[in-house]
Amino acid sequence: MNSKVASPLTALVLVLISLIFVSSSSSYDNSEPHISAPITKGLSLSFYHSSCPKVETIIRKQLKKIFKEDIGQAAGLLRLHFHDCFVQGCDASVLLDGSHSGPSEKDAPPNLSLRAEAFKIIDSLREHVHKECGSVVSCADIVALAARDSVFLSGGPDYDIPLGRKDGLNFATRDATIANLPPPTSNTSAILTSLATKNFDATDVVALSGGHTIGISHCASFTGRLYPTQDPTMEETFANDLKQTCPDENSTSTTVLDIRTPNLFDNKYYINLVNRQGLFTSDQDLYMDSRTSDIVTGFALDEKLFFEKFVLAMQKMGQLSVLTGGKGEIRANCSVRNSDNKSYASFVADDDESKAEL
Ligand code: HEM
Ligand SMILES: *[C@@H]1O[C@H](CO)[C@@H](O)[C@H](O)[C@H]1NC(C)=O
Ligand SMILES: *[C@@H]1O[C@H](CO)[C@@H](O)[C@H](O)[C@H]1NC(C)=O
Ligand SMILES: *[C@@H]1O[C@H](CO)[C@@H](O)[C@H](O)[C@H]1NC(C)=O
Ligand SMILES: *[C@@H]1O[C@H](CO)[C@@H](O)[C@H](O)[C@H]1NC(C)=O
Repeated sequence: MNSKVASPLTALVLVLISLIFVSSSSSYDNSEPHISAPITKGLSLSFYHSSCPKVETIIRKQLKKIFKEDIGQAAGLLRLHFHDCFVQGCDASVLLDGSHSGPSEKDAPPNLSLRAEAFKIIDSLREHVHKECGSVVSCADIVALAARDSVFLSGGPDYDIPLGRKDGLNFATRDATIANLPPPTSNTSAILTSLATKNFDATDVVALSGGHTIGISHCASFTGRLYPTQDPTMEETFANDLKQTCPDENSTSTTVLDIRTPNLFDNKYYINLVNRQGLFTSDQDLYMDSRTSDIVTGFALDEKLFFEKFVLAMQKMGQLSVLTGGKGEIRANCSVRNSDNKSYASFVADDDESKAEL
């Protein structure tokens, strides 16, 4: 780690400057359409305009209802999209239930902490959408839209998503999952190297990490920074509070990722980093490493800039190795491939017979 430790005074000054900045600078305009990344061939902003014009309205309406009960679900859905896209592309492979056909992406360690509710929410959204339009919208598109709405409904930027992803036919292996999702103990070098393989630059990496402005973590993801010796880059009060929550290395409790505004999608994550209150090594080291520290400071000072870079990076992430056209399928149940669904097979066969009779 390159040592760049901000004094508490520098940090305080930055927080004050940012408060002035946020109130005076123009903010991100959520009423405008936003697409800044190139659109992959086969995807389009108007993909469902004739086959399911209400898809985006239905999903947003359902999620509004769900988040009114529990805003925490937004974080679970955002993380689900990240895990889907990083492993084998945004093909909804993360949703596949491996229990029938051997181990799947769901069974790899980084997935142990994906929220079970997130999977259920995605399939309930699919049910609503398919009831309205028939089986024309993919689970992969629903995951991408749910992540976008999770950001927006938590106070973040709104943005457009090219649609037309198909659901994958292949399970992602446990090894591929481990290889593609860096652990929270990674330093900036490791994260930059890992994400460069997916064409993300340092700005993308810092912006995407801003996803940690909402949600929670289990102690196991960061107790290595507390025991046996405390990571010297941690602010003292912050470290002591975490030790209360996680009294030893095996504690199973959870804590929030953003201590300032845990449920709000804003730029406070970066203010935390400047104050050495980032939860994971992979977070805090972004401020300690000279290649990324200025980007962190820039986002801490200017929320609009963060939102713009976050949208661009999400639009890139949302198009990683997508399946389009005749590749892949539209699943009838997001956790089961159609070929593994006996009633789907007979449903399609019946359908063919009835067509043959006409
Ligand atoms: C850059 C590498 C990343 C690492 C090492 C990482 C690591 C982690 C870890 C360890 C957790 C907590 C798991 C637990 O203990 O429960 C977590 C949670 C989370 N991550 Fe990341 N993450 C990364 C990137 C991202 C990206 C790109 C996004 C989205 C844009 C994201 C969004 C989230 C969210 C929203 C949560 C909270 C989930 C919840 O509350 O259920 N992360 N991440
Ligand atoms: C980052 O982590 C890698 C792998 O653990 C290690 O080899 C490297 O020395 C670390 N880099 C810095 C700058 O600490
Ligand atoms: C945590 O669990 C490990 C493995 O079971 C064990 O070896 C270790 O002693 C435990 N630590 C504490 C503080 O209980
Ligand atoms: C989808 O598949 C899962 C796993 O097989 C099953 O538990 C669930 O009931 C199915 N959902 C619907 C709506 O059929
Ligand atoms: C199987 O396919 C049928 C018909 O498309 C669908 O209604 C059902 O939810 C699916 N069930 C599972 C377990 O995949």
